[in-house]
Amino acid sequence: MSKVIAVIGAQWGDEGKGKIVDLLAERFEIVVRYQGGHNAGHSVQVGDQSFVLHLLPSGIVHRGKTCVLGNGMVIDPKAFFVEADRLTQQGVEVSPERVKISSRAHLILPYHRALDHTSEERLGNEKVGTTLRGIGPAYEDKAGRRGIRTADALVPDVLRSRIERNLEDANRIIEAYGGEPLNADEIFREMSVLTERLGPFIADTTHYLNVAATEGRSILLEGAQATLLDVDHGTYPFVTSSTTVAGGAIIGTGLAPHRLNGVLGIVRTYTTRVGEGPFPTEMLEGEAELGQMIRERGREYGASTGRPRRCGWFDAFATRYAAEINGFSSVALTKLDVLDTLDEIKVCTGYKLNGRVCESLPAVSQDLRRVEPIFETLPGWQSSTLGTTELSALPTNARRYVDFLSEQIGVQIGLISTGPERSQTIIVHDSKLGQWLRDNE
Ligand code: GDP
Ligand code: IMO
Ligand code: MG
Repeated sequence: MSKVIAVIGAQWGDEGKGKIVDLLAERFEIVVRYQGGHNAGHSVQVGDQSFVLHLLPSGIVHRGKTCVLGNGMVIDPKAFFVEADRLTQQGVEVSPERVKISSRAHLILPYHRALDHTSEERLGNEKVGTTLRGIGPAYEDKAGRRGIRTADALVPDVLRSRIERNLEDANRIIEAYGGEPLNADEIFREMSVLTERLGPFIADTTHYLNVAATEGRSILLEGAQATLLDVDHGTYPFVTSSTTVAGGAIIGTGLAPHRLNGVLGIVRTYTTRVGEGPFPTEMLEGEAELGQMIRERGREYGASTGRPRRCGWFDAFATRYAAEINGFSSVALTKLDVLDTLDEIKVCTGYKLNGRVCESLPAVSQDLRRVEPIFETLPGWQSSTLGTTELSALPTNARRYVDFLSEQIGVQIGLISTGPERSQTIIVHDSKLGQWLRDNE
C-alpha cells in the first residue's frame, strides 16, 4: 500500500521538491500543499517550459490531477490569483473543478505583510531574513485566535469586524515604528472582491481528503520549506512559522495519522540556505569562490525573492537529524550534476562544540554558529552526469558519493536527479520509491 505519501525537504529548503513532486504526480490522483504560503517557490521544468509554483501544488502542471490547498496553509488571495492567472496564460487549467482551498486555511491580509516588514526592521542585525510575504504574522494571528479563515471571509460582517479589530492593533505597531497606518475600509473593499472570486474554490478539504483516502485514491502531500526551517525542529529562531516536518502533513490536512503510508525526503547533494541563521558547512572565506561557482552552476537564486542562496557542503549530521524526525522511508537525491566539475567533495559527518563531538543537533542558535564541522573528503568524478537516467551509467566516484550519502543518512536512495527537467532522473527501481511507483501504476 502506498497511496498516501508525503514529500519533505530535508535541509533549509529549495532541495528540488517541485521537480520531484511534478515527476511523481503522474502516479497520484490528488496533490496537496498543507503548510506555508507563497514564501515557497517550487520550480518545475517540462521540456522547454518552466513553471514556478508558490501556492498551488506542483501537481497542477499535470492535466487531470486534483490539487488541494490544505487547512495548514496561509493564503494571500491576491498572490493566489496572480499565480492562477500566470498559469492560465501558460496553458494550465486552474479552475474550482480541480483546485480546492480549505475552508479552514487562514488568509494573509495586507497588514500581515506590513507587520512582517516592521518586525524585520525592528530586529535589525538579528533579523530572520524572511520572504516579507506576511507568513509569520498570519500564523501569529492564527495561534492568537484572531485570524481570518477563508470561510469567514465569505461572510461580509465577519470579514469587516475582524479586519477592523485586528487593524487597530496592527496599526499601533506599524505607527510606533514610523510606518504609515493602513485603512480598514480599503482593506475590506479589496478583500471582499478577492474573496468573492475565491469563493468557488473553497471547500471542506478535510472531509474530501479523508473520503478520498477511504476510497483508496492516491494522495501526494507536498511539503514546502524544509525540516531545518520547522518552527519546532528547525534552527529556531531562524525558521519559518509552520510545521514543515512530516507530522505537519497530518495536521495541515486533517488526514488521520494512520493514512500516511510513506515519507520521501528530498535531499540535495550539497546545502543551501536563504536568509539569515546558522549554517555550519557554508563555503566562506577560503571557499567563497567555490560557493560562487556552485551558486552559478546550480542557479541558486531564490525562486520567490531572487535572493542569492548561501551555498555549503553536504551536512550529513543535520540530514540524519531530518531523517530521524521525519522517518524517511526513501530519499530523492537532487542536483548531482551540479558537482560534476569538482576534484574533491567534502561531507560533514558530525559537529564538535567546545572540543567535544555533539551527540545531537544543538538547540541553541548561538551554539550552532560556533560548531566545528567534522569533514570527510571524497574524490570527485569530473565528468558530466547531466541528464543521466541509468544508475549503471554514473561514473564510479559519483556512485561512491551517492552510496556514502545514503550510508550517512541511513536511508536508501530511491531516486537521483541529474538535471532540472522531468526526464533527467534516475529511478532506483529496486527501492521503496520504485515500489510506490509500481503500486500506483
Ligand atoms: P524547491 O523549493 O524544493 O521546489 O526547489 P526550487 O525549485 O526552489 O529550487 C531547486 C532548483 O533546482 C530549481 O531551479 C530546479 O529547476 C533545479 N533542479 C532540481 N533538480 C535539479 C537537478 O537535479 N539538477 C539541476 N541542475 N537542477 C535541478
Ligand atoms: P521552498 O518551499 C528556502 C526562509 C526565509 C527565511 C525563513 C523565514 O521553496 O523550499 P518566512 O517568510 O517563511 O517567514 O521566512 O524561511 N524560507 C525559505 N527558504 N526555501 C523556502 O521555500 C523558504 N520559505 C521560507 O528565507 O530565512
Ligand atoms: Mg524553493
